[in-house]
Amino acid sequence: MGSEEEDAIVQERVIVEGHNAQDPTEQVESARKAFEQEFGRFARFIEASAELRLTLSEADSEQRSLKELRTRHLGKKSALAASKKLIGRVGPDARAAFGQVVQSAEAEIASALDQAEQTLGGILQTLRNERESIDVTLPGRRPRLGHRHPITLLRERIEDIFVALGYAIEDDREIETDFYNFDALNIPQNHPARAPQDTFYTTDGFALRSQTSTVQIHAMQRRGAPVRMIAPGRVFRRDTPDPTHNPMFFQVEGLCVDEGITMAHLKGTVAEFLRRMFGPSTVTRFRPSYFPFTEPSAEFDFSCFKCGGQGCRICKNSGWIELGGSGMVHPNVLRAVGIDPQRFSGFAFGLGIDRMCALMYGLDDIRLLFENDVRFLEQFE
Ligand code: FA5
Repeated sequence: MGSEEEDAIVQERVIVEGHNAQDPTEQVESARKAFEQEFGRFARFIEASAELRLTLSEADSEQRSLKELRTRHLGKKSALAASKKLIGRVGPDARAAFGQVVQSAEAEIASALDQAEQTLGGILQTLRNERESIDVTLPGRRPRLGHRHPITLLRERIEDIFVALGYAIEDDREIETDFYNFDALNIPQNHPARAPQDTFYTTDGFALRSQTSTVQIHAMQRRGAPVRMIAPGRVFRRDTPDPTHNPMFFQVEGLCVDEGITMAHLKGTVAEFLRRMFGPSTVTRFRPSYFPFTEPSAEFDFSCFKCGGQGCRICKNSGWIELGGSGMVHPNVLRAVGIDPQRFSGFAFGLGIDRMCALMYGLDDIRLLFENDVRFLEQFE
């Protein structure tokens, strides 16, 4: 540019918003310098693209930064755009020359950006192809399948047997009011099971159910009579953990209410269940017992599935394995849910799944079931 032209531009000092009076050519120059400075770290994309080792996410982020750089230096609000607006305000003698200054700065910036974008675009494409390429000759990666917990496996076997016998499966809440956990089950006010030493209570006075017998009440309220259901579920007691006790364990409740139900139905049902569970030669025996919600009550045992009643380590040489409690539903329980005990009668039983599971799988300690050691749990299919 000739010095006369430069002088002319200098004479045309224009005040641009946000800038002090500055030579327009200088303005363009400083815009160019500002770009060069910021573009510095992208220059590598012009010089040596092949050597660049970027990850896909790094290349992605570089591409975004480059786009922002373009907006900042060539966009509507850029210093260069402000300089362009000055072209018309420069004196006619210097206008063409100034226009060229602006244009060449713009072309220089645009070309640097174009080149860097192009190289980066190529790098990104290569990285995406690498990520998406599939080598069909490689062996597949088999997803690791989990499997069901031994308690679940046993619960499902029990459910299958009772469903085949015409029973429905009920599920209900684990946190209960006193009515469901005690009152409706004919458990008197002063019964030790109500004490906080035996039952867990929430701070609002709700009880964590201590037996699945609570579901008898819900089921009879919901379905009325006749009803046949089993209810597997989690229960809670303040028992100190040892090889046969846990503070949380599983039970299965059974309930059958209809006209003319007797103790013979109870015995027949439990015996049939145990035969289907442990084989056709399994023998069942009932011993008198006491539960507030059944009258009469009985505990039931079955002949050891391992030794067939001869006596072994599993049955502690007795030939029998204790399984659970049972009895005829107490008339007070039927009354509590509005079923007429003159017309209907029923039986109920309940057994613990954890101890049964330990016996069946030869475990010495039921606590193993909840240590959640996968190496232990995955042995059971
Ligand atoms: C009951 O819980 C009665 N609801 C059973 C019942 C139902 C009787 C219907 C009559 C009619 P019991 O407290 O005995 O009964 O418990 C039943 C079974 O739960 C026991 O045989 C045992 O296998 C299991 N069990 C009890 N406490 C624990 C514990 N802390 N850890 C693991 N299993 C337990």
